[in-house]
Amino acid sequence: MNVLITGANRGLGLGFVKHYLQQGDEVWACYRSDTGGLAGINSNRLRLLQWDICTPFENDAGLPDTIDLLINNAGIYGPAKDGQNLEKIMPEVMRQVFEVDCIGPLNVVQALKDRVIRAKGTIANVSSKMGSTSDNTSGGAYAYRAAKAALVIVSKSMAVDLALFGVRVITLHPGWVKTDMTGQSGLIEVETSVSGMTNIISHVDDYEPGSFIAFDGQEVPY
Ligand SMILES: NC(=O)c1ccc[n+]([C@@H]2O[C@H](COP(=O)([O-])OP(=O)(O)OC[C@H]3O[C@@H](n4cnc5c(N)ncnc54)[C@H](OP(=O)(O)O)[C@@H]3O)[C@@H](O)[C@H]2O)c1
Repeated sequence: MNVLITGANRGLGLGFVKHYLQQGDEVWACYRSDTGGLAGINSNRLRLLQWDICTPFENDAGLPDTIDLLINNAGIYGPAKDGQNLEKIMPEVMRQVFEVDCIGPLNVVQALKDRVIRAKGTIANVSSKMGSTSDNTSGGAYAYRAAKAALVIVSKSMAVDLALFGVRVITLHPGWVKTDMTGQSGLIEVETSVSGMTNIISHVDDYEPGSFIAFDGQEVPY
């Protein structure tokens, strides 16, 4: 299976890379600027591609003709702690987080969809429960919540549009995971989250197109 993963140099993206290499798959790992943990992996089934997901992809030659699985994992939180509360949130922060967390995955799918269609493959968009309105009891986090909510909606439209071509699209919530994004303070390890999400991906036909599913298999209302 040909697997392409964005934001693959650290955190969950790196966890996905290790999982699919372990499974024997061919992996195209995208990184923004620093190869990070990818540099330490020695495998002839791993190809590294530099791609800031907010920019057009320029080196088509590095891509496979068919992509069986595209994982839109790259994302940012934006200012942490109280930096996104009602008093402090700024228009430029709203725009910056939206640019990466919603427009970025859309840009990636627009660039790669023909390859996924040729494989009748699967697209997994990594959102967050923080993008669920029904799960929002604590407020704040304006930019991250809004951008991840928008990604759920965008992902649903992709699911409907690409179903016509035999492509499955699912939206995932990784859980609260020990990565840089959470300051390593999450509740679960990367391996636990990746194991859950990859299990969902491998059973994607069991879910409605565009479903929003947490790493533990629970449907996330949105
Ligand atoms: N950790 C959690 O508990 C949690 C919970 C819910 C959802 N998520 C989502 O899961 C995904 C992965 O999160 P994580 O915890 O692994 O975060 P992370 O450790 O902060 O890693 C984020 C990754 O995204 C990449 N990235 C950011 N902006 C990019 C851009 N413009 N172009 C390409 N790559 C870019 C980063 O690359 P650089 O190294 O170059 O910055 C890095 O590889 C994110 O979408 C996040 O929102 C995480």
